[in-house]
Order: sequence, then C-alpha cells, then structure tokens
Amino acid sequence: MERILFTHSKEATKALGKQIASFLKVGDVVLLTGDLGAGKTTLTSGVGEGLGVNEEVLSPTFNLLKCYFHGRIPFYHIDAYRLEGQNIEIGLDEVIEGDGACFIEWPQFIEPLIPDEKLEIEITNMGENDRRFRFFFEMGDYGWIESLKEEEAA
Ligand SMILES: Nc1ncnc2c1ncn2[C@@H]1O[C@H](COP(=O)(O)OP(=O)(O)O)[C@@H](O)[C@H]1O
Ligand SMILES: [Mg+2]
Repeated sequence: MERILFTHSKEATKALGKQIASFLKVGDVVLLTGDLGAGKTTLTSGVGEGLGVNEEVLSPTFNLLKCYFHGRIPFYHIDAYRLEGQNIEIGLDEVIEGDGACFIEWPQFIEPLIPDEKLEIEITNMGENDRRFRFFFEMGDYGWIESLKEEEAA
C-alpha cells in the first residue's frame, strides 16, 4: 500500500509528524529515507511532539540513538548515518521492535536489523520548502496512512 503527500513548510512537516504520532503503536518501526536536509529529523520531531515527549527531538547524528520515555509510548530515534561500514551488532535490535515505536534515519546502513513489518517514508526535496512524502509498506498494520490528511500537512 502506498500514499503520497506533500508539505510546503517545515511547520507543515512537523504537523504531519504529529498526525503520524496519533496512530503509532508499540512495536512500530518506521524507516525514513531521503538525502541530507530532506526533512527526516523534522518529521521525527513532529512525531515526538505528537507523542508528548517532554523535550525537543533533535538530530541524533552524534548520539546514534535517542530514547524518549515521557510520551504516550516509548519513542526511539535512530540515525544510522555514522554506522556505514561499521559493526552494527551493538544492541539496536533491542529498541527496534522493542517496547515502543522506533524511527530510523539511514536504515540502509543497518539493513540486517530491519524487520519485515515496517513502514517506509521516502522524502524527496522538491525545491526550497517543498517536500514529497511517499509512504509505503508491504507487511504490518500501517493502513492508517490512508487517514493522513493533506490539509493539515499543507
Ligand atoms: N517542507 C519542509 N519540511 C521539512 N523541512 C523543510 C521543509 N522546507 C524546508 N525545510 C528545511 O529543510 C531542512 C530539513 O532538515 P532535517 O529535518 O534535519 O533533514 P534530514 O534529517 O533529512 O537531514 C531544515 O533546514 C528545514 O528548515
Ligand atoms: Mg536527520
């Protein structure tokens, strides 16, 4: 199943993240792909806001993993960018499909750790403030992508 949405501002992308947050369940795994500056971290920070984590979700690039425990469900944010070509057996499997929802930037660098049931969000930079979000999944309970509203994201 596939869904395509557009946003035209950083704020709209955060609002889209908030909508996504309302549907998330424990065990959900969401992969974020797209170039540097596409909006992966921005979308994720909207998700954090929507879950009610009590701190701003920032890029974990220098942390690899950030954990947020004060929202509706535990929220894990992985940025695998720096793991390219590294040993990836560092225990990330415990948070992927763990007791919360997990968002992963640069999932291609930890491919062996990615489960079959996941939602992928491919973000494309269409110009200065315009971003295209392609949601798709083959397995898992992510049918709610049909319910995401473009109005709120515009
Ligand atoms: N519609 C939009 N959605 C998200 N970010 C946008 C948008 N338009 C412009 N931007 C800018 O693009 C950048 C996205 O950065 P970031 O979310 O850190 O990207 P990534 O994590 O994919 O590298 C930010 O500087 C943001 O202000
Ligand atoms: Mg990022």
